[in-house]
Amino acid sequence: MSVTSVVGTQWGDEGKGKVVDLMARQADVIVRFQGGNNAGHTVIVNGDKFELHLIPSGILYPEKKSVMGGGMVVNPQALLEEIDALKERNISFDNFYISDTAHLVLPYHMVLDRLEEEMRGSEKLGTTSRGIGPAYVDKAARRGLRMGDLLHRERLAGRLKAALNYHNHILEKAFNQKGFSYQEAFNSLWEAGRRLAPYITNTALLLDRWREEGQHIFFEGAQGTLLDIDHGSYPYVTSSTTVAGGVCHGAGLGPGRIDQVIGVTKAYMTRVGEGPFPTEDKGKEGKRLREEGHEYGVTTGRPRRCGWLDLPLLRHACRVNGINFLALTKIDVLSGHPEIKVATGYMVEGEEFMEMPTDTDLLGRCEPAYDSLPGWEEDISQIKNFDDLPENARKYIDYIEKKMGLPIKLIGVGPERNQVIVRGDL
Ligand code: IMP
Repeated sequence: MSVTSVVGTQWGDEGKGKVVDLMARQADVIVRFQGGNNAGHTVIVNGDKFELHLIPSGILYPEKKSVMGGGMVVNPQALLEEIDALKERNISFDNFYISDTAHLVLPYHMVLDRLEEEMRGSEKLGTTSRGIGPAYVDKAARRGLRMGDLLHRERLAGRLKAALNYHNHILEKAFNQKGFSYQEAFNSLWEAGRRLAPYITNTALLLDRWREEGQHIFFEGAQGTLLDIDHGSYPYVTSSTTVAGGVCHGAGLGPGRIDQVIGVTKAYMTRVGEGPFPTEDKGKEGKRLREEGHEYGVTTGRPRRCGWLDLPLLRHACRVNGINFLALTKIDVLSGHPEIKVATGYMVEGEEFMEMPTDTDLLGRCEPAYDSLPGWEEDISQIKNFDDLPENARKYIDYIEKKMGLPIKLIGVGPERNQVIVRGDL
């Protein structure tokens, strides 16, 4: 495995949790490199459900190392709650590391996230309200606070004062809201810092050392390619680099060090929040996908918009991530659908497009051209071998492989950890 990264090829919620968990079993080190608690992985182990928002799935294996990389934005209170909830279920934190360069999501970021959304009116993005965008803004504006600042009382005080000066001014003068008390903010942050301090370290250095020693490192991407700040459907995106390249600056590993990228794609598509979704099915088939696929957000509980697989978008994801093979998830949800549609290209005002337009308005006007594939009736959730799948399910998988020119090596047939078909070496 060496150094492998897994990324979502859609708008997040591709079912990465299961693929990540499976790959994590073969890894020594599991790393998150971007995003924050806007993400939510559900992992089911022996019927026990774990919902992880910030902490890498590797934490479920006591002997493996779990790393929160520097490209993340971390809400310290949310992290402590997640740690406490896992410790209560006897999960060990002996091999847990947080990058000292990861940025902090602070209470004013969450307030700003909400206020900025309100201000956007009909142009709202539908964010998760976790303060992710405003935290990345502060990072780029060089007024962010980092994990490492929590280790130094004087430095933390100085940086927090400067950040609050700015944010209280904006909150009070621009938004007519109450600002935050410095002392209260400092006390709660310093206290959180005391508890997080044992885990905070230079993780880029550790990762390089572990790689040199031949340890297998696995990067778990959060969100998906179409939510990437540069390669997604801007501005309806998140604020981090969700594509595989994000591993390099998010975790501090050079590009040549990544050996393999796995793209996770759901057998259909979903989106939460606003923005274009050419293959969205607002009718009864879309509703059926939502109910049978339990398509409600792990983080916010919002119903997901549902629709059909979109090949131009998948091709875009394969290209910008340099994907080596695909994992197809939730194909069991398609059982019982008489017809399975797949978008092969688009028409916009009489013009044909075979690739995803980078112009998001244009993407919003795309009318998909569909191939229609026959469905299957059988329950496939207990199938372990590709050859035992119904013929039409196999045809659907073959079809995607041919269209993408990539193998599908993992096929998810149900939510449990073992409900997956593995084809060949990973
Ligand atoms: P933010 O990341 O909270 O700023 O939200 C920006 C956009 O990304 C919104 O459309 C969110 O719904 C979407 N988003 C963020 N995180 C996830 C995720 O983990 N899954 C799906 N959508 C997400």
